[in-house]
Formats: sequence, C-alpha cells, structure tokens
Amino acid sequence: MINVALPKGRLGEKVYDMFESAGFPCPQVRDPGRKLIFENEEAGVRFFWVKPSDVAIYVERGAADIGVAGKDILLEYSPDVYELLDLNMGKCRMCVAAPNSFADDSGKTLRVATKFVNIARNYYDSISRDIDIIELHGSIEIAPILGLSDVIVDIVETGTTLKENDLKVFETIVPISARLIANKANFKFKTMEIQGIVNGLKSEVEKKQVEEK
Ligand code: PRP
Repeated sequence: MINVALPKGRLGEKVYDMFESAGFPCPQVRDPGRKLIFENEEAGVRFFWVKPSDVAIYVERGAADIGVAGKDILLEYSPDVYELLDLNMGKCRMCVAAPNSFADDSGKTLRVATKFVNIARNYYDSISRDIDIIELHGSIEIAPILGLSDVIVDIVETGTTLKENDLKVFETIVPISARLIANKANFKFKTMEIQGIVNGLKSEVEKKQVEEK
C-alpha cells in the first residue's frame, strides 16, 4: 500500500483527478464529508487530505510515502525528500511586489513582509541587499499599504489580489508549480510501486501538455 498525502483544497482535487486517470482511483476521496483517509486496496493506494503546507512534513517523516507539495513550500522549508515529478499544475510565481509608486532607496534597509522568510532572505542575499524581514501569516498585501513594510514577497497567481490593492510586481524570484515528492527511505523499499505511480502521472502530465498546445 502506498500512502499518498494530498493537499486539501482545489489543487488537491485536481491532483487526485490525475491519480485517478493514471490508474490509481479511489472515488470516495471526492466525498464532501469530513473523512480524511481513503483506501483502494486493489489499486494499492491510501489517500489522505492534509493542509497543503503540511504535506512535506508527512512525507519527510515517512507517514506518507509520497505527496504533492508546492515548490514554494519545498524552497521555504527544504524538507529532506526526493522531488520526483513536476506536475505542471498549481502554477504561479514567487514575486517581490509593492505599491505602484514604490521606488527602492538602496541606501536604506528594505522592509520585507512575507510568509516565505527563507525564500526572501535567500533572494536578497543573492543580490546583496540589506533587509528587515517582517514575518506574517496571511493577507500580506496589506503590509505595504499600511506602511508596515516597503515590499512584500508573496505568491502571485492571476495578479488579481495585487491589482485590487494597487500593488504591482517588481521582480519575479522563481516560478512555482506542484511537485510529487517521496520519502527517501520508503522510496528505497517501495521503488517499484512508487515508480509505477510516477510513470502513470508522468504520462498524464504529458497528455495534458499536448492538449494545452
Ligand atoms: C495567495 C497569495 C496572494 C494570492 C495571489 O494567497 O498570498 O494573496 O494567493 O493570488 P492571485 O494573484 O490570483 O490574486 P492565498 O489564497 O494562498 O491565501 P493567504 O492569504 O493565506 O496567503
């Protein structure tokens, strides 16, 4: 049995659809109830829903053999896992954004509000810019509007949140998408089974890419 940690939410549902098309179905996963664990013995998979930012923890500690996590979480927390496949979904980018009127004064320490403190620190280290990090946990866009920070480092998907708050992207740090990850030790013991899932998902990703063209 392969234990799969799915990120709860819209992305997770799309990810599950991909498992199903790849030959690893477990339709009860779609039940709107409160149950969190679902199993299909025949297909050899057990799915469970976890908070998206917790997927990497379940996988790193081996409670899940594999899981799907955003590249943002992998960059931020550097979990000790294998990254097996880019699922080419949940696409967005990690950006530096600020009010439209923002102009950087390189003589001053830049105040950066973010949930992604490591990504922000690494980025500004790489360009040797002095910063003061303000760690927040949501609605980051408000920080520069109220003068709590000069800029934010955050995820931009459609850009609507920025636009509606009179902010814009000043730099793109890195593109983000959902990745299939695996526990290192469990991968050794269940290589064939996990590889079977990887191959199935890979051909689904390729099919979708062809359809998109
Ligand atoms: C993310 C991000 C932005 C928004 C960007 O927030 O932090 O606020 O999505 O999406 P857009 O470019 O399509 O508008 P999320 O919904 O994950 O919630 P959060 O407030 O907890 O960060």
